[in-house]
Amino acid sequence: MITVENLSKSYGSNSVLKNISVNFHEGEICGLVGANGCGKTTLMRCICGFSQPTSGYVVVNGSLIGGKSAIKRNPELAGTNPSIFSRVADFAPNTGVIIETPGFLPHETGLQNLMLLAAMSGRADKARARRAMIELGLDPDEKKQVWKYSLGQRQRLGFAQAFMEDPDVLILDEPFNAMDKASMEEVHDLLQRFKAENKIVLLASHSAEDIARACDVIFEMEDGNLRMIRE
Ligand SMILES: Nc1ncnc2c1ncn2[C@@H]1O[C@H](COP(=O)(O)OP(=O)(O)O)[C@@H](O)[C@H]1O
Ligand SMILES: [Mg+2]
Repeated sequence: MITVENLSKSYGSNSVLKNISVNFHEGEICGLVGANGCGKTTLMRCICGFSQPTSGYVVVNGSLIGGKSAIKRNPELAGTNPSIFSRVADFAPNTGVIIETPGFLPHETGLQNLMLLAAMSGRADKARARRAMIELGLDPDEKKQVWKYSLGQRQRLGFAQAFMEDPDVLILDEPFNAMDKASMEEVHDLLQRFKAENKIVLLASHSAEDIARACDVIFEMEDGNLRMIRE
């Protein structure tokens, strides 16, 4: 489970997230929908540990996210109820993330990029990288360098990376941008598989239509707050 507790995030005087508390559960595809600039990416970055909240905290599958500074910000967590979390981590563990267009080494092929990332994470190998590419409709034997990929192909390679590591949690920010209909259908199928495997999927989009199509549970973000609009 992902637990977001009393989370606020401000940039200077711009109060983007206002005391948000929400849980995202296994086996559900959870959607965040809202206008551009409402704070969807900011919330996802806080969940991953890429950004520190101004106050409040996030627990992902038992790990308090944000390392020691999360404890400093929430001193009440230091000695108390250990059932809230069992570990402290800088970043969300076993989590596949696509936030913004994924960056790859431009002068390597798609497979070379994935193999490099797999070696770094230790969570995938060549066979899995190949399989993930095929599932996303990319040819692992293609010699094309990534700088020649279309935006949609790059997006698919990002998905292949997220899927090859078989994460427990998937965080997808505007995943359908620049995707054609056929790739979107493939991704929908993969999301259903994740759901069937009882993983947590959190998906954000400004498109109410895309969210309605993909998600079981939907939260609308407005004025720094979340409101459940489908459960
Ligand atoms: N690093 C940052 N520094 C200052 N302001 C930021 C930063 N990141 C996001 N913001 C501001 O936070 C608000 C929410 O942005 P964002 O989370 O990207 O919204 P969304 O993803 O819903 O489009 C916007 O007003 C944006 O300008
Ligand atoms: Mg965004």
